[in-house]
Amino acid sequence: MKLNRFEKTLVQHPLRFWLQNQVEAPLLTSMIPKPMACFEQALEIGCGFGNGIHLIREHFGAGHVTAVDIDPEMVIAAKKRWQDSSHGLNNLSFSVADATQLPFTEAQFDIVFNFAVFHHIPDWQAAIAEVARVLKPGGFFVVEDLYRTAICNPLSRRLFEHPQQNRFDHQEFLAVLRQEGFYLVCDRNVLNLAGMVLAQKTSPL
Ligand SMILES: C[S@@+](CC[C@H](N)C(=O)[O-])C[C@H]1O[C@@H](n2cnc3c(N)ncnc32)[C@H](O)[C@@H]1O
Repeated sequence: MKLNRFEKTLVQHPLRFWLQNQVEAPLLTSMIPKPMACFEQALEIGCGFGNGIHLIREHFGAGHVTAVDIDPEMVIAAKKRWQDSSHGLNNLSFSVADATQLPFTEAQFDIVFNFAVFHHIPDWQAAIAEVARVLKPGGFFVVEDLYRTAICNPLSRRLFEHPQQNRFDHQEFLAVLRQEGFYLVCDRNVLNLAGMVLAQKTSPL
């Protein structure tokens, strides 16, 4: 589901960039086993205005980043932002894509990122299955997301547009990850409003 105008403004606010880079990134990288593996191919689902790409490159040292979003406006804005930066579009690709039908082959990525996206997806379980499909065995899924309590309340309903059916809490999200064959490396639940998870796709025996 696309964001409404208000949420688009919030997502591209400098404070959001600052929070993501200064607070969320160190928390997320602290969950990755050290020494950190080499992430040659990274996928960001729901790239928004493209700030996550900075985080994925700087904090996770990814080689090539593929960034997708369901909203063409987001993809155009993220691409322009990077085109105009000193990095340019080297080792970056963008496309419009739905997380529940990713246009990629099996086992294509070393690491996949979800920064506050799956709470926008009506069938988020299908999106997790897609992440499991496109990840290489042993690849990582990095998640930070919002839970039912944060989005299914009168204030949030007034300000934002989020699906209200089939939402999830921390334990429900972890259960579907396990069901799709992920090993849970680390997880943090913040008052059941939001959480972070590092999950690893298990290798076949
Ligand atoms: C809250 S924004 C987060 C953007 C960015 N990840 C960030 O952290 O700034 C959620 C993003 O997910 C995208 N999105 C929603 N549903 C999606 C889907 N089914 N597939 C891909 N992207 C989706 C929205 O268009 C939006 O850009």
